Amino acid sequence: MSEARILVTRRWPEQVERHLQETYDVQLNADDRPLTAEELQAAFRDYDAVLPTVSDRITAEVMGAEPLKARLVGNFGVGFNHIDVEAAKARSLTVTNTPDVLTDCTADLAMTLLLVAARRAGEGERHLRAGEWTGWRPTHMMGAKVTDKTLGLVGFGRIGKAVARRAHYGFGMKIVYYDAYPADPDAVAAVGAVSCSSVEEVLERADFVSLHCPGTAENRHLINAERLSIMRPHAFLINTARGDIVEEAALVTALKAGTIAGAGLDVYEFEPKVSPELASLENVVLLPHLGSATEETRVAMGMRVAQNVRAFFAGESPPDRVA
Ligand code: DGY
Repeated sequence: MSEARILVTRRWPEQVERHLQETYDVQLNADDRPLTAEELQAAFRDYDAVLPTVSDRITAEVMGAEPLKARLVGNFGVGFNHIDVEAAKARSLTVTNTPDVLTDCTADLAMTLLLVAARRAGEGERHLRAGEWTGWRPTHMMGAKVTDKTLGLVGFGRIGKAVARRAHYGFGMKIVYYDAYPADPDAVAAVGAVSCSSVEEVLERADFVSLHCPGTAENRHLINAERLSIMRPHAFLINTARGDIVEEAALVTALKAGTIAGAGLDVYEFEPKVSPELASLENVVLLPHLGSATEETRVAMGMRVAQNVRAFFAGESPPDRVA
């Protein structure tokens, strides 16, 4: 067994917790209670590695713990906008994430939201369960057709590409995209994707817009009132990336006014708080950050963290180092 003392901030799949327990001196969180900022700071004083999730805010203050014992922050998740990476570097902390293993399931969930929003499936289910359904009729709950429509992707990285494949091969959708970085030419060619010169151009052209850019400071409120007004009135916005890429208040206004037809959201600006106004609207589908939430993927994410931890304490470079 390694000497390293490790703190896991939330419950992880049992198989991964067992694996960590067999290998390290590990403190688990059996109650799955979110840790306070003080508890997180104490963890940086007491453990060699802290393994957080998106629900933990790993701020400069938290990592300012004295004396600092921790050397590794092994995030359970691909997105790491909840970790102040510059502050981590300043404290010589190594930071890792879990790319690749959640790509397919997150793309599946983006398609789920797109289909449920377009076909009014959430609304239909509520209607039926409330005992309001009086029977089939030609004008009942008509939604929007998905097949052959245009999907606009903001971000054509791993998850954006996986969504493009599903939409193109599964539903014959045309793909347009914007990415601030050069896109993978093979992936572009495989789905006949058309590059746009700006986010605005994607919004102008798409019937469905799906966000797949990182939750960086530059992308905060990328989709604001002005950009929502560029979208077509029959278009839908899908967000499985990070909540604050969309200005939630502006989205509520657009959904109420019918500036856009609907939305499908898995992430929220003030997560886990969701604005009551948003929750009161029928033309939005709301999921509780389930993008990677399958048994297989969550185990794979945990095992990916374990690989990073193993490499780090073996003196090797962790495969998924981000800082
Ligand atoms: C991810 O991996 O980024 C998920 O959103 C959970 O953090």
